[in-house]
Formats: sequence, C-alpha cells, structure tokens
Amino acid sequence: MKTDKENRYEELLSKVEAITFKEKDFIANMANVSALIKEAFDFLWVGFYIVKDEELVLGPFQGPIACTRIKKGRGVCGTAWQNEETIVVHDVEQFPGHIACSSLSKSEIVVPIIRNDEVFAVLDIDSVDIGTFDDVDALYLKKISDCI
Ligand code: SME
Repeated sequence: MKTDKENRYEELLSKVEAITFKEKDFIANMANVSALIKEAFDFLWVGFYIVKDEELVLGPFQGPIACTRIKKGRGVCGTAWQNEETIVVHDVEQFPGHIACSSLSKSEIVVPIIRNDEVFAVLDIDSVDIGTFDDVDALYLKKISDCI
C-alpha cells in the first residue's frame, strides 16, 4: 500500500515522463518539470542550477528570486555537486554553510543530475517547514531528474 506522498509522486512522475519524453532540450524540460513539481506540492522554491565553467548557475525555477551562482563545495547545492550525491537537509540552520536565498526556507533537498558520468546540473527544492523531505522524496526526485 503506497502512502499519499508516494501516490502524488507517481502521478507527478507520469506527467513528467509525458511532457519530457519527446523533448531533448534540457532547459525546456527543466522549465516544465519545475512547474510540475511546484504545482504538485506547492513547495517554496523548485528549480535547477546548471554547471557552467566550474560554477553552478541559476536555471529554470519556480518561486522567489534566488542567488545566481554557487561555487563547488559551497552550500547544499555545491556540496551535492561535489559529493555527487543527494542531500536531504532536515533543518537548514543545522547545515553548515547553507546559503539562505530566502529566510522562509526551513528544509531542503538537492539532487545532482549526472550526464556522461559527471554532474551537469542539480535539482534544488526548498520548503517552508522543517523536515519536509525524506527517502521517498529522494527516490522520486531522482527518477524525475532522470527525465531531464
Ligand atoms: N540553499 C541553497 C541555495 C539555493 S536556494 O535555496 C534556491 C544552498 O545552500 O545551496
């Protein structure tokens, strides 16, 4: 028996697959996928940072304005990029070096997207509540990221 959250992610994943499977342009896919995730869960901020010249540069997103560049190893995004692994942050105040783009953000998940064996972008999601994200989010957001 799936949880409510799993059912919502299953429905979201179907929509993501449907909208991305014929489209090869990753900017177009990132734009639609950030809109679909935001619509499904109404998270504070949903968006992508793209690796360009050894920095993460802001890509398509939904939510309040955000910082435009993040260096490797900095913040949650730069750490997920460096370590090439998903990071779930229960409480952003407990994450050393967290970059606060919005004071409303209380928890966060960052999923690196790998192309040709290297991270080419990250999916970043912020929530207004502490402890929003867990292994279920990590699992489905990885599947969603693989559609980009
Ligand atoms: N909090 C992120 C920065 C990006 S914003 O959340 C949109 C970080 O620490 O990397």
